[in-house]
Amino acid sequence: MKKWLMLTSSLLIGTMISFAHADSHGAPFGGTEDQTFGKKLWNSLVRNGLAGNNRMVSRPYQGQHPHGAILDTIEGTLTIDGESGAVIVKNNYGGEGVSIEAVSNDPDAYLAAVTVMYQREGYDPDNNDWFWAKYLPDGSFDTNANGMPLTGRVAKGMPEGCIACHTGAPGGDRVFINDRY
Ligand code: HEC
Repeated sequence: MKKWLMLTSSLLIGTMISFAHADSHGAPFGGTEDQTFGKKLWNSLVRNGLAGNNRMVSRPYQGQHPHGAILDTIEGTLTIDGESGAVIVKNNYGGEGVSIEAVSNDPDAYLAAVTVMYQREGYDPDNNDWFWAKYLPDGSFDTNANGMPLTGRVAKGMPEGCIACHTGAPGGDRVFINDRY
């Protein structure tokens, strides 16, 4: 009897460990929790007119690598799960014939990706608590070369990715456009 109990509990622990592993792929982003939050974030952006069909479009400008030929950036504050935080949405435009004028006339025709930073208190103190996400225009997650959804601490501890590059932003706040955060 005792033996069986021990076997069952060790099986249970084993299953839990492998679930935890499968969830994160050993990486600090793209797991179930980050996907769930990333979806909430997108829905909140849409509800607040910061993404989706009825979004506000700020003035497009000439972009920098890697975000796209033409960009527009919108900032605001969102409340998710009862907590408020700063949000920065960068729309990345590209494709044939892309220009500031073309994007101004028809933003949706050139929208390639939506990159978002959302500040969550206590989420990642090493990196100013930013939650990172890269969406396709329909709100689904873009993925890296391994098929991992780009949502969460992307890609903490790795030599490339949102955090690695944004660490070079002046002011040490991970934000390039200004030093307000
Ligand atoms: C190789 C460097 C690099 C990588 C990788 C990168 N960014 Fe950026 N990002 C920049 C630069 C440079 C700017 C400023 C661009 C501009 O506005 O002209 C920027 C701007 C932004 C902004 C607007 C706020 C700001 O910092 O100015 C957001 C939001 C953003 N990036 C999100 C992301 C997300 C999410 C990822 C990962 C999926 C990512 N970035 C990956 C370089 C990078």
